[in-house]
Amino acid sequence: MSRITLTQFLIEQQREQKHIPADLRLLIEVVARAVKTISVYVGKGAVAGLLGNAGTDNVQGEAQKKLDVAANELLLQANEWGGHLAAMASEEMEMPHPIPHGYPKGGYLLVFDPLDGSSNIDVNISVGTIFSVLRRPEGVTETDESAFLQPGSEQVAAGYAIYGPSTMLVLTVGTGTHGFTLDREFGAWVLTHSNITIPADTKEFAINASRARFWEPPVKRYIDELLAGNDGPRGQDFNMRWVASMVADVHRILARGGIFMYPLDEKNRPNGGHLRLLYEANPMAFIVEQAGGAATTGREPVLSIKPNKLHQRVPVILGSKHEVERVARYHRES
Ligand code: AHG
Ligand code: MN
Ligand code: MN
Repeated sequence: MSRITLTQFLIEQQREQKHIPADLRLLIEVVARAVKTISVYVGKGAVAGLLGNAGTDNVQGEAQKKLDVAANELLLQANEWGGHLAAMASEEMEMPHPIPHGYPKGGYLLVFDPLDGSSNIDVNISVGTIFSVLRRPEGVTETDESAFLQPGSEQVAAGYAIYGPSTMLVLTVGTGTHGFTLDREFGAWVLTHSNITIPADTKEFAINASRARFWEPPVKRYIDELLAGNDGPRGQDFNMRWVASMVADVHRILARGGIFMYPLDEKNRPNGGHLRLLYEANPMAFIVEQAGGAATTGREPVLSIKPNKLHQRVPVILGSKHEVERVARYHRES
């Protein structure tokens, strides 16, 4: 059986299509290797003593889980010494992490959510890792927060790993969205889902409906119409799913369509939204758009936002194109 591995896929992207330079290929392979290790720890669960809280809070004031901290450390250590990075930033660190002295520095910036959906770890439900790659801006030597404040349209690669019944890596380098499944015995990432396409129409939506009383009018209008089903203006029934792991919700949408919403509401308005722009919204928006979907805040495309801080939060509405466009229209009309 001939199988295309991640390594082969990346070499072909580099060689034939000239899409990625060698150091970006190395970067992605290093991230993919770290993800394999995270997958092992996630898979061991309670056996490794890795469930539960670490006893610390991150910069967002959230209690860190032991696996949040472990996954963050694994990604830092794996990526420090390869020479491909200028700096890294993460949900779990207030400030960017510089490449230690003594290691060569490269032209890329790596941003990640080491463990997404971490409220699900202790109940053995799918979690993931999300990452985004940017270029170090010209002329910047000392890499501080400002180097990372680039719109999502500047991303050169983005991906996520999902630690589900199988572990998968879903990746884009701007040439479509492709999925690799981890063959655990061989330790290989096998291309199993090339050129993933999100259906433009859907009958499935994902939103934390417990926040309904805080929603803005356009979101209320849209969800009310879906809930009215067959008897409402849409004339069809819709189904609802909410995993509370963005990675898992987005993965389902890549597989069979749907719309994912974490909109602005009265409660998260002071923060600007719930999900973080640089390491949740942007990479997912890039992946979804490369799969033919769309991503908006309701007011503007996610990928066009110029960030003003590393841990900025934004509203996120993404997935099947026609539904996302409809929600954006409802925002314009309101
Ligand atoms: P994280 O675990 O990295 O902090 O991210 C959690 C995010 C996202 O994965 C998910 O969609 C959302 O928060 C869940 O929010 P609710 O708790 O409102 O369901
Ligand atoms: Mn997250
Ligand atoms: Mn996280």
